[in-house]
Amino acid sequence: MDRKHEHDEPADAFAGFRTAFKSFATEAIHVGQEPEQWKSMAVVPPISLSTTFKQHGPGNHAGFEYSRSGNPTRQCLEKAVAALDGAKYSLALASGLAATVTITHMLKAGDGIVCMDDVYGGTNRYFQRIATELGLQVSFADCTKPELLKAELKANTRLVWIETPTNPTMKVVDIQACSDLIHEHNKDIVVVVDNTFMSAYFQRPLACGADICMYSATKYMNGHSDVVMGLVSTNREDLNERLKFLQNALGCVPSPFDCFLVNRGLKTLHLRMDRHFKNAMASAKFLEADPRVERVIFPGIHLLYLKH
Ligand SMILES: Cc1ncc(COP(=O)(O)O)c(C=O)c1O
Repeated sequence: MDRKHEHDEPADAFAGFRTAFKSFATEAIHVGQEPEQWKSMAVVPPISLSTTFKQHGPGNHAGFEYSRSGNPTRQCLEKAVAALDGAKYSLALASGLAATVTITHMLKAGDGIVCMDDVYGGTNRYFQRIATELGLQVSFADCTKPELLKAELKANTRLVWIETPTNPTMKVVDIQACSDLIHEHNKDIVVVVDNTFMSAYFQRPLACGADICMYSATKYMNGHSDVVMGLVSTNREDLNERLKFLQNALGCVPSPFDCFLVNRGLKTLHLRMDRHFKNAMASAKFLEADPRVERVIFPGIHLLYLKH
């Protein structure tokens, strides 16, 4: 198709891009925020700055003992994120990279990681320059081509790290196809999807077979460029137990204030992502029409040429 001459506006600008998640906005606003959990009945979760919590007796507490292991404001955020990811569990970490480090600490020396060949530079740096120093074997594969991913899966592979769309070149990976292929090879391999660019609004990796969905919440999930944070969601109880242990044991936790801000940011995620999408479509359309532009890299580009 001569794409330069096909600029019909799709009847539904989101056609083929996503199906709306039922009650997304309502969940973003209400899950984990129940006023009844506070004596004050506050409709917005208070910022709990206390580092320690009174116990009825030694080890007999009301859900919280020390803010590294658990904090009320953080818990409100974690519940909201879990709902938006269609997950049973979610954990908040101090940054996206702290989430990556915490996940990787589930492995031990000698274990193998296969990583998408185009990922955020800091993820690549961590795997290449730090994880390898700890005795982990890291290899890279273009996960857009399942046969290349398959060739990298070895007997010691414990984790596959997918980022889609990738930062910065916007490669798009079929999460379901990769998860099926990986779990067919070995059902115990943990498939992680870095969902930073799509956010929970546009993509739910856990519904596509991934074991863990992670974010740099620093980007769209918070959306106001005023917090550095990571998020990790899963439906697997064993993974959640281990990650929760590591969240406390490694100590990469975010502050209650940051948790409050991200929780607030989530309440407008649906509005922001819709607008980002429209703006991106308009920019892509504008650039595609300019003969000086050789190529526009935008995962939704095909939507410009859909006929309805
Ligand atoms: C796709 C992706 N993953 C992870 C990270 C790391 O997150 P953070 O900067 O919150 O540590 C980034 C940061 O830019 C990113 O773009």
